Amino acid sequence: MKFFADTADTAEIEELAATGLLDGVTTNPSLIAKSGRDFMEVTREICALVDGPVSAEVVALDHETMMKEAETLRKIADNVCIKVPLTIDGLKTCKALTGDGTMVNVTLCFSANQALLAAKAGATFVSPFVGRHDDNGFDGMELIRDIRLIYDNYLFDTEILVASVRHATHVLESARIGADVATMPPAVIKGLVKHVLTDKGIEGFLADWAKTGQKIV
Ligand code: G3P
Repeated sequence: MKFFADTADTAEIEELAATGLLDGVTTNPSLIAKSGRDFMEVTREICALVDGPVSAEVVALDHETMMKEAETLRKIADNVCIKVPLTIDGLKTCKALTGDGTMVNVTLCFSANQALLAAKAGATFVSPFVGRHDDNGFDGMELIRDIRLIYDNYLFDTEILVASVRHATHVLESARIGADVATMPPAVIKGLVKHVLTDKGIEGFLADWAKTGQKIV
């Protein structure tokens, strides 16, 4: 499963990219606002920090303006992935952009039927929001299971990009189901490494090693 960072914070992205475990980045208008940075400038910087896809979202609601915004955004770098909302105009834009080889992430997906439409529109990625689903009394992971089943039934190439990930259990369940990507806040990615028995084990090994008086280097 690929790991994307769901942030527009370049310091966090740089730190994660240095681990070699980061496969891409997703941003949205709220994350850009939170960064306090200029959209084009910060997106250009992020694209230079990672080799994988960097999602940059259009804000227009009509197809024509979405296409114009996408045209500007895709000039930023080759790894820009245009993010469009799951609406008729968004799907139309997705079809047009993927038709000429541009990566598209169809976002704000809350039903399996919406995901089916995104795949039919040729989306590179579909972003089902599991956390917001859970927040509203639905089962976010059930949605991922349904989408996996449907995409496998028809051998769709669209990758399931699990979004609105809030905790490690979302990541574990996504991997169990066979989602292609999980986009996570940096804190969730960093949290995955933590285990009390790992820390305790290191402590014990180092204490015993100290007794030997040896050095490796
Ligand atoms: O990038 C879209 C998504 O991951 C947003 O997550 O936490 O705002 O629901 P959240």
